[in-house]
Amino acid sequence: MTARPLLLVTAALALVAPGFATPGDETAAGHDAGNAAEHSEPELPPHSRAPHQVDVTVHDDAWLLVNDYDTFGELAEADPERFEFVEGLLEPKDESGEVIDTYDGYRDKTGRVELRYDPEAEDVAYFERVSAERLTRGHENYIQYCASCHGLEGDGYGRSAQHLRPPPRDFRVGKFKFTKVGVENLPSDQALVDLVKKGLDGTPMYPWALTEGQLLDVIQYIKSLSPPESGWRDVYAVVKGPVDIGEDPWTNDVQGAVARGEIVYHNVGCFNCHPGYVTPARIDEIVTGEGGIAKGSYREDLTLPKIVPNTMYQVQGYKTSILPPDFTWHSIRAGRDRQGNLSALEIARTVGSGIAGSGMPQWKGSMPDKDIWAIGYYVRHLIETYHGKPQARAALMSELRGGN
Ligand code: HEC
Ligand code: HEC
Repeated sequence: MTARPLLLVTAALALVAPGFATPGDETAAGHDAGNAAEHSEPELPPHSRAPHQVDVTVHDDAWLLVNDYDTFGELAEADPERFEFVEGLLEPKDESGEVIDTYDGYRDKTGRVELRYDPEAEDVAYFERVSAERLTRGHENYIQYCASCHGLEGDGYGRSAQHLRPPPRDFRVGKFKFTKVGVENLPSDQALVDLVKKGLDGTPMYPWALTEGQLLDVIQYIKSLSPPESGWRDVYAVVKGPVDIGEDPWTNDVQGAVARGEIVYHNVGCFNCHPGYVTPARIDEIVTGEGGIAKGSYREDLTLPKIVPNTMYQVQGYKTSILPPDFTWHSIRAGRDRQGNLSALEIARTVGSGIAGSGMPQWKGSMPDKDIWAIGYYVRHLIETYHGKPQARAALMSELRGGN
């Protein structure tokens, strides 16, 4: 365990240093032979600190949230070999030793998962003990593959991150955009594995061909970056898989789905941020048809995406606005399935779950699943028909813009 980190760090340095060194980076990149007596470490901005200064060994185990009290039962019951239900499993005491509450719960026979009481929050949740060895493995891989963008401390401000738009995620915030688990929830390990394996199209977040084991280790490490009482250390947080939007109700009627999707898209006002893809007169017709009241006039630049002030994402307190995509023009990030095909299900899941930090709300619960599916089909149709097809797109735009 002692020799290996050194090797990895050298490799990581070789990956990061060439091409990125600027005169000011000399010391950070380790080129400064310097006189030992004169040498003192200058205060460097986070992005110019080179990995050779990092100790990859994690010394402490971490207790990380597996699931909240209410939803853990289902998981535990599915695995009776491992979990048994115990009445009065946990009886937290106050300072004088008096029992203040009694919680029934599941005991993990392997001893890794535990129902834990947080005296500050006066609440319980299930936490898993992740060993320091495993976190060290995760950290090694993290430094090697992820830190150049996501930062040595996971703050989203790595050496290569400075000019990336969208910016890489700050892992201490515990907020994710494309894991499709709902804007309020934390993603399950599997949701994160899927995302990292697929990458995010149109961004420098590539699909990573690490093994499942490596990925799971890196993910434990990323989760362990949560500050005390937040993210995966927060008893109130909820860990979820992708939103459940049920079985595809449109398998035998794709055209019907696209037609319904167009109606729902323009009825609920996706065009307040994304472009509208029908004329204002048609929007009025749609809204009236759905029992609403037609507005009669819409924003003048309806065929362009619009940044709204709350579409802000922060990295180190710096706010970056992300343009909502025009589906006929921009690529979308997370629209493909595991086979790489553009997928109505994946798009519908994004719409159902919302995009945390982008202003795009969660639609699951505020419209029927069938309509969420229809939108998935409609957006896929827009991409397939117009994206990368300049002539078809120009014809649509000229129709919508009245020849302009
Ligand atoms: C070359 C730069 C780069 C590297 C290297 C990189 N990422 Fe990213 N990553 C990004 C960017 C940029 C984003 C944000 C993309 C966006 O918001 O559209 C991102 C986003 C993410 C997200 C958040 C997705 C979400 O739902 O918000 C996760 C998780 C992630 N990266 C994990 C990793 C892991 C794990 C590694 C190493 C195996 C890694 N990244 C390596 C650039 C990088
Ligand atoms: C308040 C503004 C807002 C509204 C309303 C909104 N979106 Fe978005 N949407 C965004 C932003 C911003 C992004 C880009 C997020 C990013 O890439 O970081 C986005 C991204 C998306 C994406 C791309 C996801 C990906 O994989 O890259 C889809 C699909 C989408 N929106 C569909 C919809 C649909 C359908 C509706 C209406 C039901 C809707 N949006 C309403 C702001 C909005």
